[in-house]
Amino acid sequence: MTIKAFVFDAYGTLYDTHSVAAATEAAFPGHGDYITQVWRQKQLEYSWLRTAMGRWQDFRAVTRDSFEYTLATLGLTADPATVDRLVSAYDRLTPYPEAAEALRSLGPYRRAILSNGSQPMLDSLVRNSPLNGLLDMVISVDPKRVFKPHPHAYELIEERLGVAPEEVVFVSSNGFDIAGATSFGLRVARIERVPGDALRTELTGGPIGPAAMFKALRTQPERLGCAPAAVIRALTALPDLLGRGVFGRGVF
Ligand code: LAC
Repeated sequence: MTIKAFVFDAYGTLYDTHSVAAATEAAFPGHGDYITQVWRQKQLEYSWLRTAMGRWQDFRAVTRDSFEYTLATLGLTADPATVDRLVSAYDRLTPYPEAAEALRSLGPYRRAILSNGSQPMLDSLVRNSPLNGLLDMVISVDPKRVFKPHPHAYELIEERLGVAPEEVVFVSSNGFDIAGATSFGLRVARIERVPGDALRTELTGGPIGPAAMFKALRTQPERLGCAPAAVIRALTALPDLLGRGVFGRGVF
């Protein structure tokens, strides 16, 4: 089966969620690192919990609730304007350095985002970044009222892009998303955003702070029985993977 499309997760895959750290540190000096990491972890947790509970709200609401939860763990509060400003930092994340070049090199294929972000969040994110104009489609899970890794979320790829699951390479750095997409039947390339060997010195060299802990949680593929078809260290490796037939060995 020929590959027709590359579909990317947004947060943590094309865009670095750690880029909110400057804003959290400026607003809450001394707590930026803790807030950045706990906030992201809670944001994901709330998306899964709301999906499991059948109580979907869009990712902007989830991002706001998880931010306020995080502040409360420190006994902090913020006025609504500050909360709005920090939440909207997710609309201005920095893309990973090789993302634009990789998207450009995949020009002959359809290129899209499938993300848990709400449509307005994703549209702003792309518009505010150098990836603007390099994607054929930006797909939010909004219409399905569930978050990835629920299978209904991945159905949007075929419904919106018009490509069958076996014609797609799905790319993510997030363990839950890699497992969900693989389980759904997509060919998945795991982009290793935090190579375990690079982090080992940081983890064995003394007390582990929030940023190192969050990174450590991203070094491992999940033990959920859904291994990706390929692992890459830069998105620019994607065309080579196809060229070498790495996805053609009947992994699925
Ligand atoms: C995404 C986040 C959740 O879907 O990683 O983009």
